[in-house]
Amino acid sequence: MALIKVIGVEVNYKSVKALEDVTLDVSEGEIAAVLGPNGSGKTTLLRTIDGIVRPVRGSVYVDSKSVARLTRREAARLIGYVPQHINVSRGVKVIDFVLTGRRPHISFSPSDRDVDIALSYMSTLEIEHLATRDITELSGGELQRALIARALVAEPKVLLLDEPTSNLDLRYQVAILELVSELSRKKKITVMMALHDLTQAYRYSDKAILLSNGRIHAMGATHEALTPDTIKLVFGVEALVLSEHKAIIPAFYGR
Ligand SMILES: Nc1ncnc2c1ncn2[C@@H]1O[C@H](COP(=O)(O)OP(=O)(O)O)[C@@H](O)[C@H]1O
Ligand SMILES: [Mg+2]
Repeated sequence: MALIKVIGVEVNYKSVKALEDVTLDVSEGEIAAVLGPNGSGKTTLLRTIDGIVRPVRGSVYVDSKSVARLTRREAARLIGYVPQHINVSRGVKVIDFVLTGRRPHISFSPSDRDVDIALSYMSTLEIEHLATRDITELSGGELQRALIARALVAEPKVLLLDEPTSNLDLRYQVAILELVSELSRKKKITVMMALHDLTQAYRYSDKAILLSNGRIHAMGATHEALTPDTIKLVFGVEALVLSEHKAIIPAFYGR
């Protein structure tokens, strides 16, 4: 079943056409990587699926519901969106920040169960020891993990991650991708993540969506869609696809 369905979507920011004729679907429990150069429309695509950005043409369905018709609360229960950056303000403890992710489930104030859920995801993301720290006092990587924890505590069916590994050291890059992989396998969470690292996409996604100038230039099963030709077309770079190592690296002509 297609958990995410995008049909003929066009998005404009004033004079800039950010997405054009975008049609795709992502099945339940599948991990889709959104790839493309800077400014190709990756963030806009994720924001459009979350319903924050409204397309001028086309439609978006998540779990068979039109995103345009969902209230923000309904959307927040269904879709966890992890932006690349956020501005945080002083005076909020990490645990309270993560708990804001439970808001779509909370009617009055957080229950013990809400706190338990928050602490359990914080433990998975290894930020439990930071619970009482001020949110402004986290490192980039810690804040990234707090953002992911905040999205997960809502227990969404769909997780949209915007460059989830870009602020993390190698260990946490692997940890986050392994976690995402496990969530998709065990909990059937459907994931769409914008990535810069083609090797990460090659190893951790079932489907690859290659964007350039707001259009999809290649899409399909990751191992078929990511080829030297499609990489050259979209990124303008000669690349080597090392299938035995499940790695993609730029070709090297230097010394
Ligand atoms: N809020 C905005 N206002 C105007 N133009 C924007 C805005 N956000 C993004 N854009 C433009 O839309 C295009 C796609 O941007 P974006 O989705 O952020 O790409 P990516 O995430 O792939 O780097 C770019 O040309 C960018 O400059
Ligand atoms: Mg972006």
